[in-house]
Amino acid sequence: MTPKKKKGSGKDQGRRRTSASSAEPSSVVGHRTSASSVEPSSSKRPKLGVTIAGIAMKNPVMTASGTFGYGTEFTRFFDLNALGAIIVKTVTMHSRQGNPPPRIVETPGGMLNSIGLQNVGIDAFLRHKLPFFRSLTTPLLVNIAGKSLEEFATLSKRLTDVEGVAGIELNISCPNVAGGLDFGTDPALTYEVVRAVRQATSLPVIPKLSPNVADITVIARAAADAGADALSLINTIVGMAIDVRTRRPKLPGATGGLSGPAIRPIAVRMVWEVARTVKLPLIGIGGIMTGDDAIEFFLAGASAVQVGTASFLDPLASVKVLAGVEAYLTRHGFDAVTPLIGTALPPHRETE
Ligand SMILES: Cc1cc2nc3c(=O)[nH]c(=O)nc-3n(C[C@H](O)[C@H](O)[C@H](O)COP(=O)(O)O)c2cc1C
Repeated sequence: MTPKKKKGSGKDQGRRRTSASSAEPSSVVGHRTSASSVEPSSSKRPKLGVTIAGIAMKNPVMTASGTFGYGTEFTRFFDLNALGAIIVKTVTMHSRQGNPPPRIVETPGGMLNSIGLQNVGIDAFLRHKLPFFRSLTTPLLVNIAGKSLEEFATLSKRLTDVEGVAGIELNISCPNVAGGLDFGTDPALTYEVVRAVRQATSLPVIPKLSPNVADITVIARAAADAGADALSLINTIVGMAIDVRTRRPKLPGATGGLSGPAIRPIAVRMVWEVARTVKLPLIGIGGIMTGDDAIEFFLAGASAVQVGTASFLDPLASVKVLAGVEAYLTRHGFDAVTPLIGTALPPHRETE
């Protein structure tokens, strides 16, 4: 059985904890652990389903915004119904061409990007990109960014009650556009933008937090207080690379967003800190390349993960991460992913 896709209702969305759903684990992922390599023997496949912010997902592996295009680019590699959820590139009020090239620089253990939110804009998204997702059983979360509270609210309204939209991820953390970080680095502005969106839509609202702050728990708390249903973290970390031959920054705009394995320990630490601070379900992002990487995030308190940069190296990365998660659970005798969540947290969680 595959879960019925939530068709953008969400009217009863309050704050919800993650729960194991009755959804069956994906059957599309690559390898299974052979029975002989399983530690405590378990004949049944573990339950991978999670429900986050009221959205039932058949497993906790999602794709990260900006690293999975509009989904269709990946259909020749695997069945997108295998994923827990799909998050598309940030959508803005109007189409954007993005920043001038070069927009990507390779770095040790990661990459710097300065794409600049290139996207087709909300009208073209709704008309040309969204219909494809209606053919999937995998829920779609639409990631949005506005230049003002009004734009965030308008975008949210445009997505509300639209068939095929299960929730909204708020990009308040883009380091590559003017003002892109403003909302996500000031707790008062975070509160205002989340509240504005909360009031504008009945859909689940998931702010995506920036790591470019002194204390991410302050921002997380502001988002929770304003009515967020879950939190995604982290976006990229502002970084820079200089060409020693030309003695100029490698990116035209000088700085970019660092992603990939290099940022994973920072992301895990931030999830761990936020999990001790707010009660909301967390979606962990940052340098996840394998199933074990994802497990680290679950142990730190995330209820789901997103795979980003890894998909550039291997278009099958997200389903391989999923297969790795399932293999870990089987190997260690867990019958579901949910018992792992927050296991590495101190026994007494500080809550809001
Ligand atoms: C090329 C590129 C484009 C991205 N574009 C977006 C975007 O449009 N919106 C957004 O919220 N995050 C964007 N991100 C951030 C990712 O979604 C993710 O938060 C970040 O890369 C960390 O995860 P990773 O290390 O697995 O890539 C982008 C990342 C990369 C590498």
